[in-house]
Amino acid sequence: MTATRRTLIAGNWKMNGKSADGVALATSVGGKMKSAAGASFDMLVCPPFTLISKVGEAIKGSGVMLGGQDCHTNVSGAHTGDISAEMLKDMGCGAVIVGHSERRTDHKETDELVAAKASAAHAAGLIAVICIGETEAERDAGKTLDVNGSQVAGSVPAGSNAKNTVIAYEPVWAIGTGRTPTNDEVQEVHAFIRGELAKKVGANEAAAMRILYGGSMKPGNAKELIALADVDGGLIGGASLNADDFWAIGEASN
Ligand code: PGA
Repeated sequence: MTATRRTLIAGNWKMNGKSADGVALATSVGGKMKSAAGASFDMLVCPPFTLISKVGEAIKGSGVMLGGQDCHTNVSGAHTGDISAEMLKDMGCGAVIVGHSERRTDHKETDELVAAKASAAHAAGLIAVICIGETEAERDAGKTLDVNGSQVAGSVPAGSNAKNTVIAYEPVWAIGTGRTPTNDEVQEVHAFIRGELAKKVGANEAAAMRILYGGSMKPGNAKELIALADVDGGLIGGASLNADDFWAIGEASN
């Protein structure tokens, strides 16, 4: 965390939420943001596509940003079941997550595809939240920096800058497991990522670009993680499904 990069607390609801609980969660988060007028952090919620519209209504005017969890590389066309970045923008989204490890695994998404999705997000005027991170086997094999370096090189498209792009470092083995790397390990990877970003986007943009940590971030560990020099917020899964926990993570960054 540094004064020059504004902290971002992003919630990834994944495939969770039906109308009633999704709206209740969004209303609660929006209400907290509104009553905290002037919060020192940005907040983003990424519900499943089915709830984008209702959640958008629920957080309207609160200052909480709306985001999608994925987008197609094309603007429109014959792609059954897909959603374009333009469609998300049209529904009031300001951001979209691309390249989450669950999509890389479930849908065999490659760095090349992730970069194309991020480009589509940029073209639509959305912030691309580009996810990277090593598996447990890669960490055990001492390949953590290599893997994250090659994912930055392959997944961050030309045209990325500190305004239209956020990086989320999510060690795959920390997602939903309750396990996290040590603070020193997190800082080491974040600083390394920033160095690799500098090669892609230039030193100034890399210095201004937000790099979130994700993977079992909770109210209990958020403060120490977000306090690390190159950690600029969190991408939160499980704990973002509880408004009090999600908000507490935001407050921990104050
Ligand atoms: P988690 O998920 O907070 O439940 O570990 C994070 C993510 O996958 O974005």
